[in-house]
Amino acid sequence: MSDPNRLGHLVRAIALRARIGDLLPELHQHALRVAGGRCTVLTRWNPRTERLIGTSAAGLEQLDPDPWLRTSAERTAAERAWDVDTPLVFDNLTELNGRLGSRAAILVPLQAGEDRLGMFIVGTDDIAHAKRVTTDLAAVGDLLAIALERARLQRHADLQRDFRELLADVSRAVSSSIHLSASLEIFCNRARVLLSADRISVWLHDRRARSLDLIASSDAAEIEAGRRLPTDDASIPVTATMRRSRAELVTHGPDLPPDVLVPLKGRRRALGTLELTRLQMEGGDEIDLLDRIEEVARQLSSAIENVWLLEDVLRSRRELEGTFNSLADLVVVSDERLLITHANQAFSARVDRRPADLLEHPLAEFFGADLVEWVDRLRQPAEHGVDYESRELEDPLLGGTFVFTVSPLVGREDERIGTVIVARNVTDQAELEAERVELRNRLTQSEKLAALGQFVAGIAHELNNPLQGVLGHVELMLQSPAKVTARAKRDLKLVFREADRAAKIVHNLLVFAGSRRITRRRLNVNHVVTRVLSLRATACNAASIEVVKELAPKLPRIAGDALLLQQALLNIIVNAEQALATVEGPRRLEVRSHRRGRDFIEIQIADNGPGISAEALPRLFEPFFTTKEVGQGTGLGLAIAYGIVQEHDGRLLVTNRSEGGAMFTIELPSGSEAVE
Ligand SMILES: Nc1ncnc2c1ncn2[C@@H]1O[C@H](COP(=O)(O)OP(=O)(O)OP(=O)(O)O)[C@@H](O)[C@H]1O
Ligand SMILES: [Mg+2]
Repeated sequence: MSDPNRLGHLVRAIALRARIGDLLPELHQHALRVAGGRCTVLTRWNPRTERLIGTSAAGLEQLDPDPWLRTSAERTAAERAWDVDTPLVFDNLTELNGRLGSRAAILVPLQAGEDRLGMFIVGTDDIAHAKRVTTDLAAVGDLLAIALERARLQRHADLQRDFRELLADVSRAVSSSIHLSASLEIFCNRARVLLSADRISVWLHDRRARSLDLIASSDAAEIEAGRRLPTDDASIPVTATMRRSRAELVTHGPDLPPDVLVPLKGRRRALGTLELTRLQMEGGDEIDLLDRIEEVARQLSSAIENVWLLEDVLRSRRELEGTFNSLADLVVVSDERLLITHANQAFSARVDRRPADLLEHPLAEFFGADLVEWVDRLRQPAEHGVDYESRELEDPLLGGTFVFTVSPLVGREDERIGTVIVARNVTDQAELEAERVELRNRLTQSEKLAALGQFVAGIAHELNNPLQGVLGHVELMLQSPAKVTARAKRDLKLVFREADRAAKIVHNLLVFAGSRRITRRRLNVNHVVTRVLSLRATACNAASIEVVKELAPKLPRIAGDALLLQQALLNIIVNAEQALATVEGPRRLEVRSHRRGRDFIEIQIADNGPGISAEALPRLFEPFFTTKEVGQGTGLGLAIAYGIVQEHDGRLLVTNRSEGGAMFTIELPSGSEAVE
């Protein structure tokens, strides 16, 4: 009998209760009561196999696992019931009656709109009663349809939640780990449980090897087998799937669960295949499930591709960094505030800082002002259109001569975001070049001197004798006053003076020529300096020249010719006196001696006179070069000094001092022994 209260109770229960499975026994019992039947079977429609599978029953010893309503008569009956959408009573379905153990069967169609959900089958002996209660059974059918639909939705909701969690975990695990196969293995195991599959495996495409490799599987034995398939063999389902765009069902017969193969697709490339073996699907779930599996595959693909891209990026970054660091040139990148953002190993070694300690430090901390100003200037928009510049600079902070190339660092939109500075150390080359020039100068100088020396020596000797004769005679004539008139005496004095000057020149020439014949003795240069200064003391005093003498104590001795060195020093000091005579105000002559390094002694003679003009400077040591008026200087003083110093294996150098005046440096080699 129909029991509206009971029905109402069941409707409420379905609406409220989460678990439909708990309600099914009650529904079966209710149907049995309404129909006055022997047994009930709830079957679900599997649209793929087009079969009805029993899912629960009441009043039967056990639920037959074989599909229900298989014979053609049963199928026709079922079609009719679905067609009219009301319960129909059949007493002619003998086979069904046999399975139910009853005389007749009531088929209660279960559908949601157009979709078939299943069939509720009631076995009964009371056909007349059955025919009376079809309306009541229709209500039970509706209830079951709702219950099934709810159960399906519930299952979907659960599945969806589980999928969501799985997807989130997959994305997290795969992207946070470079160990791709380990993360994928976790995915396979969890998805296998979730989807009730026998096995889930991930195959990835190795483009270079043109193969599809089994990377992860819920079945460890599969992995151990190290399976690998050639990608060009399209007869293998796993490889063929890789090129498809949708998931595919591979069936093994009507009663066996199918396999599902899903392509894993990246943005531009095929990544591989997701293989689900023997997937247990419930009827009606396939399409939905395939959609979901495809969604999982999409997420998995993007996670895998991200890992691959990340690996690519990391690899090229490593390569770039390797290149950057193996460059012998110093490379520094700065941002627009002129703070360092990158520096290579060569640079960090040069400035003796760890690379991390350079970041965010201003360029000015490591580069001289010239370079920083240059970089700063290049930051302004280029009017000349040149985007990089090279130039050679001596950098005081980097300590050397470098060829710098400064170029802009350009951002994505071609905007300037910083500066790249590449510095090649050319200090050695620059030093070499300077030394070469110096050597060349010295060579020409000494060649000139040597040739001149021989020539001069010849002439000087020839001149010296007659000159001495002239001087002797004139002197004699001057000493016998009776024989010459006063006027003749004046003329004789003039002759004597000029002849004397000529003799001095000749003397100078002889010294110059003779500077090549030195006799070495161990001597202390301080003694030489002191002696020359005492010779010039009166003259300096008369010319109001303040003489500053700073001689380093305990200088090692040198092997040299004291007389010649004295001559050289004298020539330089006399020049200084003459230069100082041209200036007003305090006149100062500074003479210093000190050691330079282990092996050299330096004597420096500086004055605060006018200094030496740029044109005169390169010719200063040339014989006969003089700026003095005709008759005033021979221009041999410095040539002689140069020759003498050179004969001592030393160097004579001249510079203008920044504070004004000239400074001569005599550099002489010494032993390292100290003088007491
Ligand atoms: N201390 C100095 N300051 C400025 N100019 C100098 C100084 N020493 C030398 N000179 C310049 O160098 C030139 C060459 O000097 P050098 O001693 O060879 O010849 P001189 O002094 O002109 O002639 P001499 O020494 O034969 O009398 C000088 O004419 C002078 O112009
Ligand atoms: Mg001179």
